[in-house]
Amino acid sequence: MKTRITELFGIQHPIIQGGMHYVGFAELAAAVSNAGGLGLITGLTQKTPELLAKEIARCHEMTDKPFGVNLTFLPTFSAPPYPEYIAAIAEGGIRVVETAGRSPEAHMPALKAAGIKVIHKCTSVRHALKAEAIGCDAVSVDGFECGGHPGEDDLPNMILLPRAAEELRIPFVASGGMADGRSLVAALALGADGMNMGTRFIATQEAPVHENVKQAIVKASELDTRLVMRPLRNTERVLNNAGVERILQIEREKGAALQIADVYDQVAGVYPRVMVEGEMDAGAWSCGMVAGLIRDVPTVKQLIDRIMDQAHGLITARLAGMLAA
Ligand SMILES: Cc1cc2nc3c(=O)[nH]c(=O)nc-3n(C[C@H](O)[C@H](O)[C@H](O)COP(=O)(O)O)c2cc1C
Repeated sequence: MKTRITELFGIQHPIIQGGMHYVGFAELAAAVSNAGGLGLITGLTQKTPELLAKEIARCHEMTDKPFGVNLTFLPTFSAPPYPEYIAAIAEGGIRVVETAGRSPEAHMPALKAAGIKVIHKCTSVRHALKAEAIGCDAVSVDGFECGGHPGEDDLPNMILLPRAAEELRIPFVASGGMADGRSLVAALALGADGMNMGTRFIATQEAPVHENVKQAIVKASELDTRLVMRPLRNTERVLNNAGVERILQIEREKGAALQIADVYDQVAGVYPRVMVEGEMDAGAWSCGMVAGLIRDVPTVKQLIDRIMDQAHGLITARLAGMLAA
């Protein structure tokens, strides 16, 4: 399939694996890129720029296809050394960066000077337009369904994607709730040039996370995610578990007076416990409503081939057939 996104990134299929903390290691990024999509290493999971450089080198050993790095700009006072991370990315021969969180504006000159294409992930049309204005090459439009941080506007993709299509000139991918060929065809129909998936890629053979995490996603229904940290305007969609119930209880008790310190223990340091140790009740970890559509743990190549076959069938048989009738 050829879209503006496959052309922009030099990939075979318009499918991107979004950055995921403690999931986006070289194994998954390489598997996605080898299967014809765009895999992304999650930059900040690597504690230092030097470790990120090593992870990029490891990924180059596993694939000769293009892959990228996610750089999340956190709303924190003790910012990671972003210029050094960008230098490690550029020196590692990376030509695609997915930015997320805060605006990448301050870092655009360094990224562009290194010949890097930037796809900014955001949850509103106004932020997507800002990304276009500051020179991003593409955006990833993340609907309310998404695992991770859906923002505070609560717009589902059925509205957000066509609104983005109305306003944007640069290409965009649909993100949040994407799982299969149906999602891809719907995203294309709504104006996107491809799709970005997070949760679906966790439940694959190559995702380097504990088996408990994959099984939790397979078992979960579309009703099993919760929104935490909403009173802090740092909303995160997570899979429900005992730790999440504790956070929600604290949020109910504190009301509008909630401070980050009140829930810190349930949200900080949780990822290694969940993703590495498989402690499923440790606390809040991102997961999308799309868990309700995930029922197996295929290889990444099986998943991507299946998506493309289903999309092809939907377009050429189901949709074209309706016109012919
Ligand atoms: C476990 C997990 C961790 C994530 N970590 C990050 C992250 O560190 N940075 C980021 O930009 N997005 C992160 N995301 C968001 C994904 O990149 C992607 O935008 C989102 O999962 C899309 O929604 P979906 O899960 O419905 O596919 C994470 C998502 C999940 C499920």
